[in-house]
Amino acid sequence: MYHFHKSCANIIVVILILTKNGEKFNMRMKKKRHGGERLSLMSSLIVSDPAIVPENIEKIYGNNNPLRIEIGCGKGDFIRGKAEQEKDYNYLAIEKIADVLTIATEKYASTKGLGSLAPNGGWQRPDGRLFPLGGDSVDFTMEEIGNVRFCVGDAAELLKDLPDNSVDTIYVNFCDPWSKKGHTKRRLTYIGFLNMYSRILKKGGKFCFKTDNRPLFDFSLEQVELSKFELEYKTNDLHASQMNEVNIQTEYERNFTEKGFKINMLIARNEK
Ligand SMILES: C[S@@+](CC[C@H](N)C(=O)[O-])C[C@H]1O[C@@H](n2cnc3c(N)ncnc32)[C@H](O)[C@@H]1O
Repeated sequence: MYHFHKSCANIIVVILILTKNGEKFNMRMKKKRHGGERLSLMSSLIVSDPAIVPENIEKIYGNNNPLRIEIGCGKGDFIRGKAEQEKDYNYLAIEKIADVLTIATEKYASTKGLGSLAPNGGWQRPDGRLFPLGGDSVDFTMEEIGNVRFCVGDAAELLKDLPDNSVDTIYVNFCDPWSKKGHTKRRLTYIGFLNMYSRILKKGGKFCFKTDNRPLFDFSLEQVELSKFELEYKTNDLHASQMNEVNIQTEYERNFTEKGFKINMLIARNEK
């Protein structure tokens, strides 16, 4: 079964290729024009290295609120919604594809009313000021940006350097199931990753995971069982569950739900 999903007004085309049971998953994206220059315009939304965040939390966010991290934020719908829903936290969204993160940062800035892409390139502030491609980054203030920052890179590498007990919650939403034999260790819910999450999370901190993929979900439950996490909540049909009321849908979640897939979710508490 093939699903073709077009989005972002001709800027990008995302192609989802799903096998019958949704196990195999590929995402391709056309390289964006001026991707690097666009991302550098957004640099006040970006943190270069997550490891520097806990020590500099006040400097980065202007407060000392607990830190929540999303791994693989895609275009950032979840982190935007979550940061709005629970404001007394700081949020860091990590995404390994720079072009995807560019869209996430631009969507975040425009949703906050901080301007939009200019017709001929660059960023236009609501007061009319234009920040051209290749020029200075947009002068967003800390107050305008609020409680979300972004980071580009592979979370598997980036999170290794975070200090122990420095994070409140880790979110993984609709990650790649890595279904091929021999790729199990790449799954973001593999015990190796759970051990790293446990180390950087505070005691009592949460790991929250959503997927449409039932085999991946069942695998993840097994891994949680082997880990220092205690399963606090699970559902195989999130949208019919009590948690739906507070659930923030991700972009993939909306797509899969429209196609009739049920959404699995687990919340696990760090009991190290
Ligand atoms: C299937 S998409 C889901 C996007 C979003 N979470 C959602 O639910 O709509 C998975 C995203 O995670 C990113 N990703 C996968 N592995 C990652 C890693 N190790 N570090 C950072 N981002 C990663 C991919 O580039 C992709 O954008």
